[in-house]
Amino acid sequence: MTEESAHDAAATDGGTDANGGSNDDAAGVVRRDRFSGGPARSFLSSLPADERIFEADLAVDRAHVVMLAEQGIIDDAVAGEILTALDAIEVDGHGSLPEGEDVHEAIETAVIDQIGEEGGKMHTARSRNDEVAACIRYRLREDVLEAVEATLVFRESLLEVAANHRETIMPGYTHLQPAQPITVAHWALSYAAAVERDTARLLEAYARINQSPLGGAAFAGTTFDIDRERTAELLGFGEVVENSMDASSSRDFLLETVQALSTHATTLSGLAEDVIVFANRGFVDLADEYSSTSSIMPQKKNPDTLELVRAVAGDAAGGVQGLTTTLKGLPRAYNRDLQRATTHAWETVDAVTEASEVAAGAVATAEWNDGRLAAEAGAGFSTATGVADLLAKHGLPFRTAHELVAIAAENGADYAALEDAAQEVLGEDIASLVDPDDLEDTLDPAASVTSRDSQGGPAPEAVTEQLEATREALETDRTRHVETAETLEAARETLRGVVSSYD
Ligand code: ARG
Repeated sequence: MTEESAHDAAATDGGTDANGGSNDDAAGVVRRDRFSGGPARSFLSSLPADERIFEADLAVDRAHVVMLAEQGIIDDAVAGEILTALDAIEVDGHGSLPEGEDVHEAIETAVIDQIGEEGGKMHTARSRNDEVAACIRYRLREDVLEAVEATLVFRESLLEVAANHRETIMPGYTHLQPAQPITVAHWALSYAAAVERDTARLLEAYARINQSPLGGAAFAGTTFDIDRERTAELLGFGEVVENSMDASSSRDFLLETVQALSTHATTLSGLAEDVIVFANRGFVDLADEYSSTSSIMPQKKNPDTLELVRAVAGDAAGGVQGLTTTLKGLPRAYNRDLQRATTHAWETVDAVTEASEVAAGAVATAEWNDGRLAAEAGAGFSTATGVADLLAKHGLPFRTAHELVAIAAENGADYAALEDAAQEVLGEDIASLVDPDDLEDTLDPAASVTSRDSQGGPAPEAVTEQLEATREALETDRTRHVETAETLEAARETLRGVVSSYD
């Protein structure tokens, strides 16, 4: 069939394509009258959502066509024509694609439109199954690198808060009740450590995303003498997914990525909740640009951005749930369910990356209210544990010390209350057990913090060590991020160079 008669056959399909345009033009060039028409057509199509992988598909097409030519599977001249057509398609953009079930089919149709039936040779030795898997992985690499970058920026802003507030005493909470005094630095570094692990999880997911499924074909490989290592190299993939059925049908890389993002969103939600509570108590002032006001109550300054950050954990958990449910029980090999799996990943990576960026900005621009924090640091007898520790250091079993201090806590939580409790529990004067000055000292929140200098503790000197280690880890991850992004750019450069040699 000639190009024209293919068009004619397609023209009888009627209906409206997924992009909202008429399908009377190029529809059906790729699969002619076998393209499903009728009411299910737009339901079947992923073309609008595939805009996300338009650039990726062009790269995958180029790498595949180059490999086919290098292997002598198609002529260099045909390869050159296809590559030129792909350039024109790129310039026109996704919105100009003809109808198709998806971007893969639409691009192929557009190539055939431009250069005739020879264009169909681009789909030799592959299937949309390995093609789409390659496109998703290609695009997701960039998205995950952006998410990683957001975590790095976030860690940087937490480090800055920590560096500026090594000695800013604040109340630390358990069960939302004042528990022990800490510093703002210690609080910030606790989240820096958690986000460091979030970065690591994303980078681990990245390593498994960064594997080429191309050449898996439908799932059962191909009779052509393809070079899978070559297409992997041209697309900057670290390695090849070996088993062709695994390559074309597995999506555990999506699940792993969405899970890692969901974990990060959960970290963010905890931090957001903390800052919301701190703002509510006047411990911290959010910058206006990270706050919102009420449409009716003029006096209000609300932490809306952080409330939205907190909520994104719900979106991400929804992504994990949706994706898991979609993938669960899918038989080998490709099933169309997979088309709807992909969108969970895009939505999750977008929402979580944005939340991470916003949380970083909110933290970096917030003002800590040192005076108010110091005033509250001792609230609720938060130095009680230090007092019990002191008594235990002087030979009292810790459990007895705990009981003694608990009694004092109920009767005024001060020096006099401790004296009374010592009489009650031990039948002795407390001064016979500990130096009264030392005891007075432990009741001071600042001294309490300084004394908790165990590894990882809140004492400024312990925090300085954590700060250094955290900064080093950040630098290591930053280098890794930059190098990874450079590898991708180098691959793009190589592919451009090879493609231009076909001009
Ligand atoms: N749009 C499809 C997807 O996202 C591409 C693969 C179609 N393959 C198929 N055998 N129908 O999964």
